[in-house]
Amino acid sequence: LSNVISYFFMDNFPQHWWLMPINYNCKLQKDLWINIFSHLSGLRADLKGSLFGQHIASDVVLKTVSSFMTDSNPNKPLVFSFHGTTGTGKSHVTKIIARNLYKKGEQSKHIHLFISDLHFPDKRNLDTYTAQLKQWIHGNVSNFPRSMFIFDEMDRMHPRLIDTLKPFLDNNDNVDGVSFNKHVCSAGGFSHSSLINKHLIDHYVPFLPLELKHVRQCVMAEMVHLNMTQDSDLADEVARDMPYYPEEERIYAFKGCKSVRQKLPLYK
Ligand SMILES: Nc1ncnc2c1ncn2[C@@H]1O[C@H](COP(=O)(O)OP(=O)(O)OP(=O)(O)O)[C@@H](O)[C@H]1O
Ligand SMILES: [Mg+2]
Repeated sequence: LSNVISYFFMDNFPQHWWLMPINYNCKLQKDLWINIFSHLSGLRADLKGSLFGQHIASDVVLKTVSSFMTDSNPNKPLVFSFHGTTGTGKSHVTKIIARNLYKKGEQSKHIHLFISDLHFPDKRNLDTYTAQLKQWIHGNVSNFPRSMFIFDEMDRMHPRLIDTLKPFLDNNDNVDGVSFNKHVCSAGGFSHSSLINKHLIDHYVPFLPLELKHVRQCVMAEMVHLNMTQDSDLADEVARDMPYYPEEERIYAFKGCKSVRQKLPLYK
């Protein structure tokens, strides 16, 4: 197992995610959160039922989010960094967290997703991005402390833009009068960033390669998603048709569950 993990850290594309619910007045906003314990048991069930083959990630996410959310006065935001090859569930897990922590689920306006190539595409606009990002985070956190920010493809985010985030992630930091110590962050893809050097990331979470049986589970889940009747023979067939490595043993899925959703309709 440790080999697998170190392989992950050394060999492929580290991805980091952050989620940051922030509470500047040091109290859970009870009116906005129905009941944190029912949210957390929902999160536990959802992780168990819809995140396949990632027992480490499931465990770390559940434990850390639970203790963070029930701590009325954490001294620093919760910051995750998710590592692993493509299609193993890094983006997927942020959605699972999001939909279980907010009343309106993934649609909640308190969840802010940034995708580097989409939101910060042009290097020439770096100054504007920096100013806007800072203002956006500050404004939203002031307004709703338990906001959540997700940064995908952080490996493609400019270091200066990443630096903008630092003050929001640091211990007990106070940015223009608002204390940013109760949020969670999750991000994907910033391997050599200064956030690591400054120890602002709390948890590096390895995502394991998925095996055939997990891809099969993904296919079964997609059948439900596509309103198809679940068919385990078909799930076997779809899963077996995906590429695996090593070539001979065919143990790990090359792209995890990545194109399952796109492939499945072809079998109907
Ligand atoms: N471990 C998993 N359990 C359940 N479904 C999964 C898992 N991994 C991937 N999937 C499915 O495959 C889709 C693609 O996975 P996801 O986008 O989370 O991959 P990723 O790890 O973020 O990859 P990338 O590094 O390319 O961003 C998800 O939307 C989900 O439907
Ligand atoms: Mg992803």
